[in-house]
Amino acid sequence: PLIPTRELLAQARAAGRGLPAFNVIHLESAEAILGGAEDAGLPVILQISENAATYHGGLAPIARGTLAAVERSGARAALHLDHAEDPALVEEALSLGFTSVMFDAARLADEENRRLTERVCARAHAAGVLVEAELGEVGGKDGAHAPGVRTDPAEAARFVADTGVDALAVAVGSSHAMTQRTAALDLGLISRLREAVPVPLVLHGSSGVADAHLQEAVLAGMTKINVSTHLNKVFTARLRQVLEEHPEWVDSRKYLGPARQAMRAEVARLAAVIVGPGA
Ligand code: G3H
Ligand code: ZN
Repeated sequence: PLIPTRELLAQARAAGRGLPAFNVIHLESAEAILGGAEDAGLPVILQISENAATYHGGLAPIARGTLAAVERSGARAALHLDHAEDPALVEEALSLGFTSVMFDAARLADEENRRLTERVCARAHAAGVLVEAELGEVGGKDGAHAPGVRTDPAEAARFVADTGVDALAVAVGSSHAMTQRTAALDLGLISRLREAVPVPLVLHGSSGVADAHLQEAVLAGMTKINVSTHLNKVFTARLRQVLEEHPEWVDSRKYLGPARQAMRAEVARLAAVIVGPGA
């Protein structure tokens, strides 16, 4: 069933546990995430990015399919709009029934980021929807998750107080779309951010972080753990293998099914790693 993101995040943070947020790019990935969460008996966030919506020619088709899958699933699952840069897309997500949105104005100048983020918060909060944001302190086309970029705790606390956001993406050493799990996170900085910032912290680019290190990050104070690339790798590896074994197969269900199954198994395994033993 669909559960408010606010509820899942609050429970995870209170228990000192991580909450996995896995990206949906097509219906097979939504099914794999829900199946894996159900197998593991753990809650999960399904997130659809602005890029994924663009791939489908709009947010509604993939969002409605995903929502229908969530509603008939046994997993406790929230639906989140990931990396939205367009306030109009946030509006659409509110009307489609998303339980949270990430408004990503990190590319904009700090003042503009604050102004637009405040406005998005007012709209989303009126609909009971949680807002995640990230700081635009660094700029540049790689945004706040380029390697080497760090979020300052005092500035993060000010940003949350000024804008009213409910969750904050912070730069602590990860970067997006890594295909090797070699990132070194700044655990001391995570602890300082956890102390300074009153809302749940979000780790982006978690595909680049090894299992044990993800658990250390959660213990240090990260709550929402975003993973996309790693699951794409698992899906694609199985797909390649099946196509090589069966060059005669033309019905896409035959090869997408095993890829979906492999991703489902990895979702179940990784969700347990991320949720961790808790406090
Ligand atoms: O917002 C989505 C995540 O930050 C995913 O990043 O593909 O590097 O795991 P990743
Ligand atoms: Zn991200």
